[in-house]
Amino acid sequence: EDLDLGGYPHYMAKEIQEQPESVARMIRGRLDDRFGVARLDGLNLTPRELRGFSRVKILGCGSAYYVGQIGATMIEELARIPADAEAASEFRYRNPIIEADTLYIAVSQSGETIDTAFAVEEIKRKGGRVVGLVNVVGSTIARACDGGVYLHAGPEIAVASTKALTNMAVGFALIALSLGRVRDLSNADGQRIIDAIRALPGQIKSILDFEPEIAEHAKAVAAANSLFFVGRVRGYPVAREGAQKFKEISYRHAEAYQTSELKHGPLALIDESLPTVAVVPSDELTERNLAAVQQIKARGGSVLAVTHENVDFGELDVPRIVVPKTEPELDPILLTIPLQLLAYHAALTLGYDIDKPRNLAKSVTVE
Ligand code: AGP
Repeated sequence: EDLDLGGYPHYMAKEIQEQPESVARMIRGRLDDRFGVARLDGLNLTPRELRGFSRVKILGCGSAYYVGQIGATMIEELARIPADAEAASEFRYRNPIIEADTLYIAVSQSGETIDTAFAVEEIKRKGGRVVGLVNVVGSTIARACDGGVYLHAGPEIAVASTKALTNMAVGFALIALSLGRVRDLSNADGQRIIDAIRALPGQIKSILDFEPEIAEHAKAVAAANSLFFVGRVRGYPVAREGAQKFKEISYRHAEAYQTSELKHGPLALIDESLPTVAVVPSDELTERNLAAVQQIKARGGSVLAVTHENVDFGELDVPRIVVPKTEPELDPILLTIPLQLLAYHAALTLGYDIDKPRNLAKSVTVE
């Protein structure tokens, strides 16, 4: 990719549109249909070593941390290994316990984020094994790790990250597949995930085709001073990332909650002035999510749902952004895409500097 705008008004718009191609690059040569597994030679881990880990810890900052949460759930679901994500900026300051049978994964677009780089150093000092999920080849974090998977997203210029994050999520699917296939994940289940991964670029393209409709929704939400993003389990990091993107470029207060936590406090804030963007995938939690949407509506709040075609909202008057269905484990990858466009068009409506939002740097390389 060249570094010019290529006819787009902003780098963020360009980078959002590049995602079908950039995901295709991420998976090229990495899917092995014969064995239903991902080929990730750069991890420098033998199947025996992969099998030996009993825990996974993911470290990143900001949006990379939220995608790490998506990745942790994928790893738990596909490999059945306890996995969690933590902000590298916290981890490095809390004298973390480093375990020999934990696989540490550092995730970073730039590969230069100082908090993540220091977390990697801390892990290595204490003898832990750390691999990277990094975009910039030869960057500080990529060099410091024991191995890794490059994102191949191409240069990302906009401060609000989009295509690199999507490739991180796809990267976690590949890692989850690798960890799963040396354990109990069957060849057939591996193949199911591979087929779904292969379909992602086309599905992302079909979401991007709905940009005009999403832009209309964005105008409506941009009118509010404050909004909630809610989701649960797989959908919660999607909500976090949606809120993050929104606040970064539209300067609106956007707060993410687990849908399940609403009634434990935040529901008190709901009224006509506070809209909610609800992540409502078609999965085993759909009914519970719909019940929460109903509770918000009953308190006068408006809801915009990011959902799947077959979710039945019944009598609920809820505008919807419908994304294509993939395998449940991969749903967060596609659910995140319209939230990028929602933030972009909200910022456009409000007239802010989309590629260089105030107070933020593309990568935080100093303390
Ligand atoms: C994303 O939109 C943000 N600008 C920010 O949270 C970013 O993801 C974070 O600073 C981490 O950057 P990195 O991926 O380059 O390490």
